[in-house]
Amino acid sequence: VLAKKIVVLPGDGIGPEVCQEAVKVLQAVAEKYNHSFTFRSALLGACAIESTGQPLPEDTLAACEWADAVLLGAIGDPKYDQDPAAKVRPEQGLLGLRKALGLYANIRPVTAYDTLLEHSPLKPERISGADILIYRELTGGSYFGEKGRDSSLAYDTCTYTREEITRIAHLAFKAAESRHGLLTLVDKANVMETSRLWREVVQQIAIEYPKVEVDYLYVDNAAMQLILNPRQFDVILTENMFGDILSDEASVIGGSIGLLPSASVGAHTALFEPVHGSYPQAKGKGIANPIAAILSAAMLLEYFELKEEAKAVRDAVQKAISSNILTQELNQTSPYTTEQVGTFIAYTVLEGSEVELH
Ligand code: IPM
Ligand code: MN
Repeated sequence: VLAKKIVVLPGDGIGPEVCQEAVKVLQAVAEKYNHSFTFRSALLGACAIESTGQPLPEDTLAACEWADAVLLGAIGDPKYDQDPAAKVRPEQGLLGLRKALGLYANIRPVTAYDTLLEHSPLKPERISGADILIYRELTGGSYFGEKGRDSSLAYDTCTYTREEITRIAHLAFKAAESRHGLLTLVDKANVMETSRLWREVVQQIAIEYPKVEVDYLYVDNAAMQLILNPRQFDVILTENMFGDILSDEASVIGGSIGLLPSASVGAHTALFEPVHGSYPQAKGKGIANPIAAILSAAMLLEYFELKEEAKAVRDAVQKAISSNILTQELNQTSPYTTEQVGTFIAYTVLEGSEVELH
């Protein structure tokens, strides 16, 4: 029996709905494999601002530090987006949490599912077989560099240290070693000093990984290559902002951003969250795709070294996908609700067999 403490941060918009399904699946795993998962939920984002005045309350941070892993839904509310002068914003909660937990590596797998190829606006023959793992640096760059603003000038400084690049580069090289042996560093080394440091550090580290081939691409070209020929990529390593942009772009390959999970790892507790945002227009409608959150839970199980359990969840997701038990963005003719998709996956994990949905 494995005992683990999981803090759930449902957040805003569809966050609570998709988290509920991910927790349901984790509970099914606990029951089936006889583990003991203790769940505790805490506030982050707009909901936290509303009830405490702060996007990342002290209690929330303390809970995350206590936990073995954190599962996050999504944060963000249009109320703050429309006010460029807002002093407190939901995003500060997420960024503050990443920094406080030392989550320097954000890992985002992108897969083209065979039965969903026609849902992508890209040609099926172009994306078929694509399987990319993005390593996005998460606690440096222009997100966290010196910032300033007055009425006529603003700046966000992009800073990277050798150490910040080194630690994530090793993780990305190890991942490439265990996959197809190709690592692509995406940067803008023809213009940016930080990018030139990334190249230098990665070139040096490459010597330690003779089995990994290293490719270098400028980010503008990488953005084009991702949709022209996504199969050419194995592991992509890149800085914070480029990784943010490219992972949304890459979601088009999978047919829906509602399928993309992520893991953020680093010094302390790891955090697992869907790549999608809080999708406020869909809140409470039961139309949000819970699969990104459920696959994030599978990454959490993997992090606990529960390989068989993680595989059971991924197999159940695969079954939902191939049986078309999917929400409306992927199944227009007979869409299932967020809850039905989650229940199907949880039961499949539990029973290893199909269930009737009403
Ligand atoms: C993401 C999100 C965040 C980011 C926002 C919500 C701060 O877009 O996780 O990709 O930019 O990192
Ligand atoms: Mn993003």
